[in-house]
Amino acid sequence: MKSASLQIFDDPDALSRSAAGYVARLAEQAVSQRGRFLVALAGGSTPRRLYRLLTGHPFLERIPWQVTHWFWGDERCVPPDDPESNYGQARALLFDHVPAPETNIHRVRGELDPPQAAADYAHTLRRFADPGLPWPRFDLVLLGLGADGHTASLFPGSPPDPGPDTATLAVTATYAGRPAHRVTLTPRVFNDAHHVLFLVSRAEKAAALATTLDGPRDPLRRPAQRIHPSHGQVTYLVDRSAARFFS
Ligand code: 6PG
Repeated sequence: MKSASLQIFDDPDALSRSAAGYVARLAEQAVSQRGRFLVALAGGSTPRRLYRLLTGHPFLERIPWQVTHWFWGDERCVPPDDPESNYGQARALLFDHVPAPETNIHRVRGELDPPQAAADYAHTLRRFADPGLPWPRFDLVLLGLGADGHTASLFPGSPPDPGPDTATLAVTATYAGRPAHRVTLTPRVFNDAHHVLFLVSRAEKAAALATTLDGPRDPLRRPAQRIHPSHGQVTYLVDRSAARFFS
């Protein structure tokens, strides 16, 4: 994982401010180069501060809301108004407070049967596909890291590469009492992104972060190692507690 860049911040606030800066800068860049900004959001607790920050100055003015399209890297299979919904969290913290057109929000329909939700989401992605691909090259993918090394809903033991044309998967996994049925993008979709930004905070992630970045390559047991964009960049924004094995 030599190509990943690691940036360490004093606390989750500083980490989130930096992440918001990335979102704004990458948005400006993507719009000037490609006329639109395609983002895949993460679930979990770590991005909450970031989502709140995007609703205020200066990010509210800097994000080109009309040409920004919002997707998710993974979703829990629950209805959109369930407190465990990744979409629901982003709606409450972000979309309810900004001028994002409803037609630019492309959620995973977690209320469907998981395989059906996965197929429906793959269909959505196809509408934004880049030439020669069944999915878009995301301008920015936000990801979290689990204490067990998972990222999005790519969990230890799951097949590291489910095949060349598979954009989405329905998976089942137990983690921290969260909903077990999920839909996730596959590593190939993540690895076609222009930029992947991991947000990692809290001491419970320290060992997983160290083994992901510096441990032997073992993508079967360390799913975050599956993420290494072929032509894009991967950046880890990490707070001091999560970075305690790095100087
Ligand atoms: C989810 C996720 C998941 C998350 C990590 C980290 O839907 O649960 O997208 O991959 O990012 O579990 O979660 P925390 O930020 O809460 O530690």
